[in-house]
Amino acid sequence: MQQPKTRNQDDTQDELLVHVDEAERVIEDLPKTDISSKFSIVKYQGFWCPNHSNYMASILYFQQHFCARDTDLIIGSFPKTGTTWLKSLLFSVVNREKYGIKQSPLLNNHPHELVYRLEIDVYGNAFDYPRPHHLNELPSPRLLHTHLPYVSLPDSIKDSGCKVLYISRNPMDTLVSQWYFMISALKKMEGEDFEFFSMEEFFEFFLQGKLVHGPFFDHVVEYWKESLERPEKVLFLKYEDLKDDPIVELKKLAEFVGVPFSPKEESEGVIKEIIEFCSIGNLKEMEVNKSGVFNKFYEKKSYFRKGEVGDWTQYFTPSMVERMNKLMKEKFEDIGLFFKLGY
Ligand code: A3P
Repeated sequence: MQQPKTRNQDDTQDELLVHVDEAERVIEDLPKTDISSKFSIVKYQGFWCPNHSNYMASILYFQQHFCARDTDLIIGSFPKTGTTWLKSLLFSVVNREKYGIKQSPLLNNHPHELVYRLEIDVYGNAFDYPRPHHLNELPSPRLLHTHLPYVSLPDSIKDSGCKVLYISRNPMDTLVSQWYFMISALKKMEGEDFEFFSMEEFFEFFLQGKLVHGPFFDHVVEYWKESLERPEKVLFLKYEDLKDDPIVELKKLAEFVGVPFSPKEESEGVIKEIIEFCSIGNLKEMEVNKSGVFNKFYEKKSYFRKGEVGDWTQYFTPSMVERMNKLMKEKFEDIGLFFKLGY
C-alpha cells in the first residue's frame, strides 16, 4: 500500500518556490479570462488552468521532475468523469493477491488517498500528502493520477513503457457532475450563502471550454487519438461502458495492466466481487468516505453523488441538448468517438 510520508518537506517547499518564480514569468505571457470577480484562468499549452502561480508551479515542477518507471500505471481524466471509481477499481485489480477484499485498504482510505494526483498531491503544496522524493520509494507498480491533458504530460510518461488509463464520460453528465461538485467546494470556500453560476451559465463556460482543464472536448480527443495510435500505451475507457458491462471492462483493464483474471478467478466470482466492492453504493456508505476534506475545501463525500448515466436529462433544456449534440458531432463523429447518453 502507498503510505503517505512527510519527511524533507522543507526541501520540497524550496524546490516548489523556485518554480513559483518561473510560474510567474510563464503566466505573464499567457492568455487570461476572468470567470468571476475572484477567479480567473490562464491558457497553458492549449488548456485552461487557474491563474495562480502556485498552481502553475506545481505543473512545471511535475513536468520537469517526474521520472516515470516502465511499470507505472497512470490514470488520466478530465474532472468528474469517474476518476474516483477508476482509482478504486484499478487499486483493487492490481492488489487483489496482496489484499483480499475484506482487508482492502479502501476500507480505511478514500480512493484519492491511495492513488495520488501527481500535479497537486505530490508536486503541489498539500503537505498532508507524500512528496516527490517519496515517489522513488514506492513499490512497483505505482498507481498515480493526473488531470493534465496529454500534451502537458511529462516526457518521461510519454516515452517510457508506463501505461496510461484514461477514463472518459459523456459531456452532459460530466457537466452536471462538475456543477454540483463546484457548488459544494465553493460553499466551503466562500460560505453557505455563496451563489454559483446557474446551470445555464455554467453550460456556456463549458461549451466555450473555459473551465479548469478545459476544453473538455480537446482533452478527450487528445487521449482518444493517442489510444488509437498506441493501444498498448493508452487504454481509453468510458464511464457508460463501465456501467453497462463492468465485467467486460474490468477484464479489459486487468489485461491491459498485465494482470489478467484467470478462468479460476472468474469462476470463483473475483471480478464480480471487485465490481460490487467498488460500486458507488458500497463506497459511499463507508465511514472513511463520508466525512473529512481534501485540501481544505473538497469534501470526501462530494466525490460520490449519484453515479448515473443520463442525470443530465433532468437539467438540460431542448436548446442545450441541441447545442451539445451539435458540438459532440463536430468534435467526435469524424474520429469515431461516441458516448452513450442514457436516454
Ligand atoms: P455524479 O456527480 O454524476 O454522480 P470524479 O471521480 O472524476 O470526480 O467523478 C465523480 C463522478 O463519478 C460523480 O458523478 C460520482 O458520483 C461518480 N462516482 C464516484 N464513484 C463512483 C462509483 N464507484 N461508481 C460510479 N460512479 C461513481
